Amino acid sequence: MPDPQSPAKTPDTPLRGVKGMNDILLPAESAQWERFEDVVRRLLARYGYRNIRTPVVEPTALFVRGLGDVTDIVEKEMYSFEDAMNGDRLTLRPEATAGIVRAINEHNALYNGPLRVWTMGPMFRHERPQKGRYRQFHQLDVEALGHAGPDVDAELILMLRALWRELGLVEGRDLTLELNTLGQSDERKAHRAALVAYFQDHAAQLDEDARRRLHSNPLRILDTKNPAMQALVEAAPKLMDYLGEASRAHFDAVRAILDAAGLAYRINPRLVRGMDYYNLTVFEWITPHLGSQSAVGGGGRYDQLIETLGGKPAPGVGFGLGIERILLLLEAVGLQVGAPAPDAYAVVPDAASLPQVMPMLEQLRQAGVSVVLNAGGGSMKSQFKRADASGARMALIFGGDELARGEVALKPLRDAAAPQTLRPIADAARWADELRNA
Ligand code: HAM
Repeated sequence: MPDPQSPAKTPDTPLRGVKGMNDILLPAESAQWERFEDVVRRLLARYGYRNIRTPVVEPTALFVRGLGDVTDIVEKEMYSFEDAMNGDRLTLRPEATAGIVRAINEHNALYNGPLRVWTMGPMFRHERPQKGRYRQFHQLDVEALGHAGPDVDAELILMLRALWRELGLVEGRDLTLELNTLGQSDERKAHRAALVAYFQDHAAQLDEDARRRLHSNPLRILDTKNPAMQALVEAAPKLMDYLGEASRAHFDAVRAILDAAGLAYRINPRLVRGMDYYNLTVFEWITPHLGSQSAVGGGGRYDQLIETLGGKPAPGVGFGLGIERILLLLEAVGLQVGAPAPDAYAVVPDAASLPQVMPMLEQLRQAGVSVVLNAGGGSMKSQFKRADASGARMALIFGGDELARGEVALKPLRDAAAPQTLRPIADAARWADELRNA
């Protein structure tokens, strides 16, 4: 049998990445990611969220127990494998919530009170790749743990509206909010019994998938994409009619805050989400610009998950955003940003002067200036060409005569008429501001 670690391939076979797992290439693409990450970090800090990082690999049992064993993710999308060293069953995380809850439980992190945390990173789902759907994709995941809501539910949703605005997206046009409540488990049980009875009465109209789910997960039948079943699903018993007083009040309170904040939403009674851990509030942000991959992000409340995963009972609520989808959306509406340009580009005609030049560049960077060194020399002409291509506003020219006098020449690159001027090298920190604001 061939050794899977060293497949028999000729050395000149080009190696390629795994299907559905993308390289994020410099510089145009990475500029979009960096900008998104910057905006997100600043925004989350304003709402009191702190960064948390958990492993990409978790025990398979965490997702089976946390997400539910008859969910699409657990049934057919997980990258699971056996650790060859010790036989442990492991899985590349398909989502972040279960891992974060595991970590919070393991470290008893709710001991001192509620927590607001966020993380960003790769998730893995074995889905059929297409635009906006990948096997390795990235999420911004935000979780508020230990808060019973409904205030935090609404705050998370409003925070997302703030994010869209900050990115330049227009709610109503580029994104709309869908909202639902899943009530509590006893309410869902009563509704589920009514659903099963209803679907049984209409068994002839069920497709194979629905028939399979009828007893294991009838709620997911409501999520069907089969056009032939839409009318049947539309007329099915609504959970809303099985909700108790407290669940109704929770939903009304979330809605009252959103209404007061002027945020429009559509109540979608068929919004059930892809994991079994949800209760009460669930939501999704949908875009009309990305075809079938229209869900940009979604989340909701999961008041039993912490306990299900072995922790002291505590409520939780959060959401996950698909970063690739948001960047595609920004592209679709023409909101891409350019690659950031440095403040200055250092042209060094004579390599022998580098020991004098480079410590000065360090001073400028300490003063907050971004300076790119023309590494590797080259003619003045080629150095200026690169300076221009870097997008820098100013060239710093370290000519031999100027250096001998302790000076450097500043040449504006974006204004051909502007004169070249001289500055003292020793005082670099003093005139650093000029470069930053040039
Ligand atoms: P989710 O709806 O499964 O929720 O994923 C959140 C977002 O991740 C989706 O709306 C979508 O934008 C993106 N996404 C999902 N699968 C893919 C894929 N194959 N390719 C590209 N993007 C994808 C969760 O994961 C929950 N953990 C969210 C949550 C956090 N609920 C409570 N807390």
